Amino acid sequence: MEIKRIYLDNAATTPLAEEVIDAMVETMKASYGNPSSTHSIGQEAKSLIEGVRRQVADYLKVQPGEIIFTSCGTESNNMIIKGAVAHLGVERIITSPMEHKCVAEAVRDMKTRKNIEVVYLRPEKNGDISLEKLEEALQASDKKTLVTLMHANNEIGNLLDIEKVGEICKTYNALFHSDTVQTVGHLDLDFSKINIDFASCSAHKFHGPKGSGFAYIRKNSRLKGLILGGGQERELRAGTENVSGIIGLGKALELCMDNLEEYKNHIQKIKDYTIEQLQKAIPMLKFNGRSAEKDGSLYTVLSALLPTKNPLIGLQLDMKGIAISQGSACSSGAAKASMVMMMILNDEELEISTPLRISFSHYTTTEDIDGFVKALSEIMAEKTN
Ligand SMILES: Cc1ncc(COP(=O)(O)O)c(C=O)c1O
Repeated sequence: MEIKRIYLDNAATTPLAEEVIDAMVETMKASYGNPSSTHSIGQEAKSLIEGVRRQVADYLKVQPGEIIFTSCGTESNNMIIKGAVAHLGVERIITSPMEHKCVAEAVRDMKTRKNIEVVYLRPEKNGDISLEKLEEALQASDKKTLVTLMHANNEIGNLLDIEKVGEICKTYNALFHSDTVQTVGHLDLDFSKINIDFASCSAHKFHGPKGSGFAYIRKNSRLKGLILGGGQERELRAGTENVSGIIGLGKALELCMDNLEEYKNHIQKIKDYTIEQLQKAIPMLKFNGRSAEKDGSLYTVLSALLPTKNPLIGLQLDMKGIAISQGSACSSGAAKASMVMMMILNDEELEISTPLRISFSHYTTTEDIDGFVKALSEIMAEKTN
């Protein structure tokens, strides 16, 4: 008997929207020109890209020239962090131990290879980054500083008040980068009201294709690119553009923005339902960080803490047709607790419990949740029997 597959790993990646696939296929068939070619077939591809650039800029309330298309969130974050050190005189980075690996590793690389001072802001017990601690760290040095803090944590969903962080950074003349990979397409962002210098995006987190993203680089920042070549993307990211990928990103963003309230309401209801059903089925279960709170957490992510130790839970759920991560996709399957869990759980909790990240999209149904809770309850019962 074929098992019904239930997908609850939307923070890792989302299924492509049909409309996105159609738009990409159409582009691949009809607009195959190289955007750098001066003939009309090339210029047609160029004008498609520029259309998406304007659309993204409208969404973020920034200028089109501030949007640089890249291959993914990882590339955007690397370009910004390494570029800030190489070209903007950054000597010090303030970050947190809860950042995505692509930020953490880029920062670590700057520390080891470029001797950059790194200050890690230890999160509070609920996973929040204290703005007082940020301010103290900024006060402590006159070195040119880059603050890099993610907008929504990909494992527990805690949201950072990027408006306030931007104000603090402005006060201390620090550059501010936020990894907005989990929030672009899911929240209504307005960078015209925020003092933010750099941000990142990845299309596959909101029903667009993998291999397509962008970096927001504030005008006159003087940042230079890492990939040199033909001068594409305003000399910030050389290489022939991924035209169909950019079209897919634009279509996915358009769908998310046109339906933002509807998708958000649906997902929030599904999340509330999941919390209720999990609490009923497993009374000792807890939720990590702020993920079960309506305020301060991203509605697409719920992080549960199962009251027993079971490192095989992801595998066992997979065998029952449920696709889910224990932490982030990068750390799932790893026997070791993720850095995020090590920061917010105490030794005893790490010893006796198991984190499970449930992440939703507007395609998720209550039937999916029923199937998931049933499968989880069966596994938990087998474990205790
Ligand atoms: C917060 C965050 N930043 C960056 C990334 C990396 O994005 P990409 O997969 O596009 O490289 C991810 C993806 O897992 C993420 O969740």
